[in-house]
Amino acid sequence: MAFPQAFLDELVARSDIVDVVGSYVQLTKKGSNLFGLCPFHNEKTASFSVSPDKQIYYCFGCKRGGGVINFIMEEENLPFPDAVRFLAKRAGMEVPEEDGDREAGRKRQRLLDLNRDAARFYYQMLQQPEGRAVQEYLDRRKIRKATAVNFGLGASLDSWDALILAMTKKGYTKAELLEAGLAVQNRNGGLYDKFRNRLMFPVIDTRGDVVAFGGRVLDKSEPKYMNSQETPVYSKRRVLYGLNLAKKSKRPNIILCEGNIDVVTLHQAGFDNAVASMGTALTVEQTRLLSRFTEELVLCYDNDNAGKVATDRALEILNNTEFSVKVLQLPRRRTEDGELVKQDADDFIKFQGRDAFEALLSGSANGMEFRMAQIAGKYDLTNDEDRVSYSEEISSLLATLTNPVEREVYTARAAEAAKITPEAMGLEVKRAARRRSSQERRAELRRDLNPAAQLQPKERELRYGNLRSARAEEGILRLLTQDDSVFPADAPLRPDQFSSSLLGRAYALLWEIRAGGRRPSLAALTGQFSQEEMNHLTSVCQQPESRQNGRQALADYIRIVQAEAEKRLGGGDADPLLAATEKYKGKKGTGGKQHGR
Ligand code: GTP
Ligand code: MN
Repeated sequence: MAFPQAFLDELVARSDIVDVVGSYVQLTKKGSNLFGLCPFHNEKTASFSVSPDKQIYYCFGCKRGGGVINFIMEEENLPFPDAVRFLAKRAGMEVPEEDGDREAGRKRQRLLDLNRDAARFYYQMLQQPEGRAVQEYLDRRKIRKATAVNFGLGASLDSWDALILAMTKKGYTKAELLEAGLAVQNRNGGLYDKFRNRLMFPVIDTRGDVVAFGGRVLDKSEPKYMNSQETPVYSKRRVLYGLNLAKKSKRPNIILCEGNIDVVTLHQAGFDNAVASMGTALTVEQTRLLSRFTEELVLCYDNDNAGKVATDRALEILNNTEFSVKVLQLPRRRTEDGELVKQDADDFIKFQGRDAFEALLSGSANGMEFRMAQIAGKYDLTNDEDRVSYSEEISSLLATLTNPVEREVYTARAAEAAKITPEAMGLEVKRAARRRSSQERRAELRRDLNPAAQLQPKERELRYGNLRSARAEEGILRLLTQDDSVFPADAPLRPDQFSSSLLGRAYALLWEIRAGGRRPSLAALTGQFSQEEMNHLTSVCQQPESRQNGRQALADYIRIVQAEAEKRLGGGDADPLLAATEKYKGKKGTGGKQHGR
């Protein structure tokens, strides 16, 4: 473990969850817990709970939860070690940077150094005769020298090992080149450069570190882009291309577009507030990152079908967030042959110019207008039947608006489009809202009436294979974290007897804590589990477990788990050691996703 457990324990003890969460969320006491509006999803009624006893938070709405370290990881968008350092600073504790940890930190720094040196190499190659093909491509795309310098653009050469040679000369090892995703291993174990004969875009995070690369081909071959894989210094969910520059923009918003080239071209045209998520849909992590720099987002995706889908998905994520969201719709372009073709921000700037883009930007519709226009586009509003269908569809959209003023304004607009009175449209919207809430209620009821579904973890990967056993395993974890006095001195079960590898792993770790003479608690496990796993473990442990008859409950749970394990692992357990190693490592795997360190 990177941080000594005793240090983590003390850190958690000195970082009272009520204080920490309370500095982000307004909490009100209700029974033995505190409640507030969830910071991780948008809501009007408080379903976010904090338990001072268990030192955990849990949201009944979005089902996220964990200990105080998880909270800081999520809220401040930090990886585990940084969240620990953040809390330590707050608690006035010195962080024992252990060898292992220093080692990990050193390794991270090595990768960042390597990335930076690689970026320099690509950059230098662009200035050399070898980089001429890429320079010509930049000329064709009308990307000027100053812009290329600003983004640190570079050239990977038409060679199998130019980068590897240059970097090993600087003292980097093959393992480091592989880990950074700059080299690839062939079947014979030989290494070759991953990026060859491409225009190179270094991806720079908001701290100014080169964390990854994107490389675009110079012709029409496939794949058009190669991007770095996930590495210890790069998580694509948490990075936006161009944000290192856009965060310094004086413009009042941030423009989200699709491609790296769009970002570069927009900056060159004076829109230095453009960023792109590299070929993935916008993530919640990215929106949190953006919220540090702006309150207004402009979606400017390509005007083809894929772009519309991306816009819709982004709007869903941004729906009811603090951001004000606009959609900038690029018109299609008519070619010389009179054909209408798709265009992206880069094309638009090239063909229509920056002033035209500025006009689009200032006139861009908000998210609601965009969606309404999309629905209107499906119908012929001069046709009566279509007007009825339009009214029905648009009213379900309007019913999702929770702000009454917004609802009235857009209802009036929809009424105008359908040429009916605002009152009639208003009634339709009310009906849709009622339908919606009764659907939600029915879904909730179904969940309540179906305990099996309710018991299943939200994440597909964590689904239980044996519900009967899993239910008992959950009870054991609850008892262990709530009242471990009912447990005997020796572990009553082996982790491999648990049907759920996640619950078995949590049990093993909690038991280790207990064996070390400390109180088993979820909050100290944060570094061992992914956030999804923590969410589920928290949902398990926040449920009430009667304190009466704890011993009896425990005996029942153990009996069930043993019986189910026997069916699964075969009776007898002739060789428990073998069972513990082979089955424990078995098909479901116990590795899971280790988080953080
Ligand atoms: P052009 O305008 O065609 O030069 O490219 P662009 O930079 O505007 O990119 P485009 O809109 O085609 O794609 C958007 C983003 O998706 C790119 O910036 C890449 O990050 C990613 N992307 C595109 N094509 C590929 C691909 O073939 N593989 C991968 N992994 N990502 C891609
Ligand atoms: Mn493009």
